[in-house]
Amino acid sequence: LRGWSNGFVRGLTITAAFLSIQLIGCLQQSALPNPQSSSGAASTGTDALEILRQAGDLSAQRRHVWEVIRRITDPAEGGDQPTFESWHGEEEIFTAHTSPSRATGIRSFARETPAEPAISDVPVLTYTLYNDAAFHHLVQNRLNRRDELNRLVREGPADSVVIESRSVPALPAASMVLKTVWWPVAGNGLTPMPVWDPELNPPKKSGNDYLSWARVVVVDPTSAHLTSRTSAVDFAGRTFDSAHRVALDDFYHVAVDKHLADRLSRDREAHNVGLIALGRPIREGDYLLLVGANLATKEILDWVWGATWWHDRPDEGPFAADRPGALRGVWRHYLMQAAFDSLLPLMPDGSPHVCFNPWLEGRFPDGGNGAGTVSNCMACHQRANYPSKQFLPVTRGRGDLQHDGAYAAGRLRTNSIWAITLHATR
Ligand code: HEC
Repeated sequence: LRGWSNGFVRGLTITAAFLSIQLIGCLQQSALPNPQSSSGAASTGTDALEILRQAGDLSAQRRHVWEVIRRITDPAEGGDQPTFESWHGEEEIFTAHTSPSRATGIRSFARETPAEPAISDVPVLTYTLYNDAAFHHLVQNRLNRRDELNRLVREGPADSVVIESRSVPALPAASMVLKTVWWPVAGNGLTPMPVWDPELNPPKKSGNDYLSWARVVVVDPTSAHLTSRTSAVDFAGRTFDSAHRVALDDFYHVAVDKHLADRLSRDREAHNVGLIALGRPIREGDYLLLVGANLATKEILDWVWGATWWHDRPDEGPFAADRPGALRGVWRHYLMQAAFDSLLPLMPDGSPHVCFNPWLEGRFPDGGNGAGTVSNCMACHQRANYPSKQFLPVTRGRGDLQHDGAYAAGRLRTNSIWAITLHATR
């Protein structure tokens, strides 16, 4: 990590506040057919979405991503859980010896290898979920196996972008992948939780990990009995005198049972997040709150990208814009950014489009082209290739096919999925 931030810095110094004010100006009206499908599958055609991409129509792009979020958070057929909780956990794909488990979604949590090359000292509890289309494609094509990737490097289909490179068989259009982020709270006490406010967190060269955020709220699992709306709380060595008290029911959350507690206790990230949030490991009786998620859907060739994260004032600011009335309940507590392209629409200062999740990319350091708060999902994911695991530093705009080693000849491009490179086993 430090290596990335030590280099010379010619980063952009747009403050996040400036950025969010300007974003309001970008939000324009446009006519996108309103998708009606209630299944997890794509409902707006690829061509229509490619037009939105070319036009850089951010408002229509946002409406589309909100609609996808509505579909995947609506209960799955015949159940009361959100659809995405019926998807396959990453461990089902990438763990060599899976014990047969009927659990899906976060309840299937298990991990044998560390989540990602440690990119900072600050742990984040993530778990990636794959819908059926994505899951079956990865497993049937053995893209979870290094022996197969090694074969594809030599014999795979020619890549359409990088001459003399190969690519994995492209995932089908119905594929969706959701990288979820969770915060543990105690079942019987108050738990602090950081909240991202763009205007209070100007970009730092070392990245804006959640320990550095200016504000915390206090999650109260028993809010029915309480009279005070604020509490004093200590978090990560700082005291917050009047942190806003929020209810458990304002979040999508799951109760931690013994089985889940056992698996969490064996994961380094989960263990360390527990120490930060609770001062102890996560245990049975605690809750996991969904605090953010990164979404990719293969509706267009280069995937549609969306970031969503929880906020206690979810109706304010540009990231609340265009939220549809059909999104109900706790889901109205989440903000959102969208990216259909690595470049468009341009930011007000003429620089490439920005789309990041404060919990995930917010912590990325500035390696010369700006830190995580000016990153873009597609700009990074298009670099995904095997065997290189180097996903940093943050790059901006269109790929630099001439100079960026991620696009060097002789690699296997992984259809924008980094997990293939990072987690394939055997
Ligand atoms: C600078 C690089 C970078 C940026 C920017 C980035 N990601 Fe990722 N993303 C990764 C890496 C690396 C992983 C794999 C992490 C793991 O599984 O250990 C990943 C994983 C994912 C996954 C799971 C599938 C996969 O590729 O492994 C999704 C979905 C995802 N990211 C969505 C997003 C979205 C949405 C954004 C923008 C809001 C974004 N990402 C921005 C690097 C990046």
